[in-house]
Amino acid sequence: MTLRTEAVTMIVDICNRYKNEPSPLMLILADVQREYGYIPLEVQEVIAAKTGIPVSEIYGVVTFYNFFSLVPKGKYVIGCCIGTACYVKGGQNVLDKFSELLKIKPGQTTTDGLFSLDAIRCLGACGIAPAISINGKVYPKVTLGEIPNIIKEYRDKEMK
Ligand code: FES
Repeated sequence: MTLRTEAVTMIVDICNRYKNEPSPLMLILADVQREYGYIPLEVQEVIAAKTGIPVSEIYGVVTFYNFFSLVPKGKYVIGCCIGTACYVKGGQNVLDKFSELLKIKPGQTTTDGLFSLDAIRCLGACGIAPAISINGKVYPKVTLGEIPNIIKEYRDKEMK
């Protein structure tokens, strides 16, 4: 896939933002993820050409952190918290249930492009553990039984 000219301009602009930083890679990748939406190989090559950082190093960072994505994120991004407070209250089971029902692993997106699933380290809502967020909306004290309805709520929105 070849990137459109506007996309290349956007990536180059982001690289320029951090050209005086001693280690700019994380800053660049965070902005690219937020503004471009994902970081495929073609985008990594532009960053490499602009910064001189090898593509292999960029690829390693992008694939290590699950908030960076090689593919476009779904319309609804589900973040399941498995930080300590949520973990002890069953956060891992909540994540596993979403994974089972959506048939995707953390870091993946459903084939219809509707949902992405991420494992999050802390949502800053430890008092209402286990918590999840969907596009920024936080759901408190999530039980396994309510997960099918949460998914249905978003699927129904698409039907309207
Ligand atoms: S550990 Fe889950 S919100 Fe803090």
